[in-house]
Amino acid sequence: MSRFRRVSLGSGSGYVPGEQPASDDEWVKLNTNEAPLPPSPRVAAAVRDAAAALRLYPDPFGEPLRSALARHHSVEPDQIFVANGGDQVIDCCYRAFAEPGSTVLHPVPTYTLFPVLARVFSVRDLSMPLQRDGALHAGFASVPAVLRFVVNPNSPTGQWIAPDRLERQLDGAAGVVVIDEAYCDFAPDSCVSRLTSHDNWIVLRSFSKSHALAGLRVGYAVASRELVADLHAVQDSYPVDRCALAGALAALQDAGYHQRLVATVREQRTRLVDALCALGWDVLPSEANFVFARPPEDRSAKDVARKLRDQRILVRHLDAPPVDGRLRITVGDAVSLDRLLRAVQRLGVATG
Ligand SMILES: Cc1ncc(COP(=O)(O)O)c(C=O)c1O
Repeated sequence: MSRFRRVSLGSGSGYVPGEQPASDDEWVKLNTNEAPLPPSPRVAAAVRDAAAALRLYPDPFGEPLRSALARHHSVEPDQIFVANGGDQVIDCCYRAFAEPGSTVLHPVPTYTLFPVLARVFSVRDLSMPLQRDGALHAGFASVPAVLRFVVNPNSPTGQWIAPDRLERQLDGAAGVVVIDEAYCDFAPDSCVSRLTSHDNWIVLRSFSKSHALAGLRVGYAVASRELVADLHAVQDSYPVDRCALAGALAALQDAGYHQRLVATVREQRTRLVDALCALGWDVLPSEANFVFARPPEDRSAKDVARKLRDQRILVRHLDAPPVDGRLRITVGDAVSLDRLLRAVQRLGVATG
């Protein structure tokens, strides 16, 4: 840290992403919720074509992807905010809706980017514990906050709240409510159709997970045109590059491929949950593309993660209470999960 750093930023190191090995040779990567399959083959062709026009800036509002997303969700194009990943949607919500010193609320455990951005934007970070079944804290809707985030399905737990139930739990919530649906395609339902009843709600979506495009960096928000105008007022000049817009559009248009990808994840998720349970792990019900699981017999989750890493298998251990007793394991393809499960079995035998 230099002596020039803004005092209100503190000495923290910012968001800590999961490990990305320099080469993916030999690694089984189950730590950052990436897709188990490559993106639609149409993406590479679209990106190549878009590259021919890189001399020119992209559309500042993300066209033609924005209009395609509007058709996809049956809303108007000015209800879509296209961004450089879902993370940038979150960042723009802080920029647009949180005065320095105001309160931003989120449950805990959840996505660890929220407290980091609270420091960046000098706002008060307030968290309320989730209930055991993943429901919001009874006071979540009533505590004063200018901005509140709900991740659904949640990370790292994988738990999901059905839209009807979520509406009841958020009843009366003032300020802006962001429903982060980065993992929603793996769950039974979305809150997008509820936006007509809630003019203070923003639904966030990502191409990183269910479209296998984490490397391209495209996310978006769906909301009222007024809230979207607020987000445009704070956006970067040209937030999403031409190749990313073209690639995401191609992925969106390949609906059949997307369905197969989601079906593969759901199938392998069932297999992973069943296998871990059979090995004595405690696995929370998951509607996401990962599971949140506690190793058996008081084995340290940190130790298990380290031993798996020694075998070039990466899973995510979040080293802080209340989640440090569990591992978040991304649903990989059949071969990756075979390797993981064999390794987990060997660990069990080794401590037998
Ligand atoms: C809960 C949640 N929200 C948003 C994001 C951001 O996704 P991206 O910026 O890759 O679109 C992530 C990424 O892991 C996430 O876990």
